[in-house]
Amino acid sequence: MSAGAGNAWIVRAGGPLRGCLRVPGDKSVSHRAVMLASIAEGTSRVHGFLEGADTLATAAAFRAMGVRIEAPAPSERIIHGVGLHGLSAASQALDCGNAGTAMRLLSGLLAAQRFDSVLTGDDSLRKRPMRRVIEPLTQMGARIDGEPGGLPPLRIQGGAVLTGIDYALPVASAQVKSALLLAGLYARGDTTVTEPHPTRDYTESMLAAFGVPVQRHGNSARVRGGMPLSATRIDVPADFSSAGFFLVAASLVPGSDLLLEAVGINPRRTGLLDTLIDMGGDITLENRRVLGGEPVADIRVRAARLHGISVPVERVPDMIDEFPALFVAAACAEGETRVTGAAELRVKESDRIGVMAAGLRALGADLEETADGAILRGRKQLVGGRVDSGTDHRCAMSLAVAALCCSESVRIDAVDNVATSFPDFEKIAISAGIEIEMIPCTATK
Ligand code: S3P
Repeated sequence: MSAGAGNAWIVRAGGPLRGCLRVPGDKSVSHRAVMLASIAEGTSRVHGFLEGADTLATAAAFRAMGVRIEAPAPSERIIHGVGLHGLSAASQALDCGNAGTAMRLLSGLLAAQRFDSVLTGDDSLRKRPMRRVIEPLTQMGARIDGEPGGLPPLRIQGGAVLTGIDYALPVASAQVKSALLLAGLYARGDTTVTEPHPTRDYTESMLAAFGVPVQRHGNSARVRGGMPLSATRIDVPADFSSAGFFLVAASLVPGSDLLLEAVGINPRRTGLLDTLIDMGGDITLENRRVLGGEPVADIRVRAARLHGISVPVERVPDMIDEFPALFVAAACAEGETRVTGAAELRVKESDRIGVMAAGLRALGADLEETADGAILRGRKQLVGGRVDSGTDHRCAMSLAVAALCCSESVRIDAVDNVATSFPDFEKIAISAGIEIEMIPCTATK
């Protein structure tokens, strides 16, 4: 239980969501921009960087390893790359905070350095499985130890000589794929990673932007070791996952009509869009364009009558971060929604199936958890009450969206981690017409 620590939100159902919003920069792209720019030769500029606790932790880690990173303005970074072999040992453990992406990608990068490193994180991250990176990196020649069960902190010994491998991922994971590709930059020969389902491909496309070719065939990606990266400019699109809360909110609240500007629509991220449209959502993409090599669009969403569906299992990786929000849409849609093949949700920043099931049930929703998903029977009106986010940013924001469909106000405890991915959530939500107020978790309101 996380109630009692930090801050809570009080959210009240209100009028329609209207206007034009821009959500912050993409978290996945921002992490990778800092990592690749740091090991590139020359000075890179990043525009639209996410000023979230997760991505700030990544930037702090590279500063601790001797990279000069300037922040001339909010969401702007100038990164003075030190080259593939220019990082130096940090004086203490690198703290990844809540960020699984930071820890898993850094484990690949640090496995190849001449110096020792320790990667640690907050209570949530120290419970997340790291064997999935330890095992393949060890096959490449890395020396990494975790706590029993393959949990962080991770102790990485420097000076290992890595050799490329051909690795088939047992679970679809962009983080594991990326960790291996980053280690592969330093390995002898080629490193090939094959995924069971394609996942977000930012590491592959950004490596190419830094001048390192990545060969892609079907679900495989291959890099050759020893190729230098050269500095470039990165434009970070708005984060589709952050937009997702507003797509669900505006779909559910009658009379809503919202425009979300310049959102990244990489097809490996937009499963929620397809799912909401399958559920009867009124969502259109306008002004499609390419920003820094990534497809973006302004997304228009209007209120609609949603109905339940079975989410196609092959779509799960394309909406892996959006299930908390989808559960809310399903809880308020007509009829039944089934989610299967999503066991990974149990090892995210929280057990997202468990946290969302408990939260939505407390608000009067009708649903059953399964090992790898849920069955949700939609209701027009939820009731309201007090719920806990499990200290999970996406569950907190999703439960705030659920509050918009409740007859009474909702109190959501432990919302501080929203700052990991969406630091201005309340401000942007208020500007769209949501009534949301922050209070200390200790308050009895
Ligand atoms: C991410 C990959 C996904 C996703 C996470 C970000 C990335 O994790 O859930 O929020 O940036 O590579 P998995 O690789 O564990 O699926």
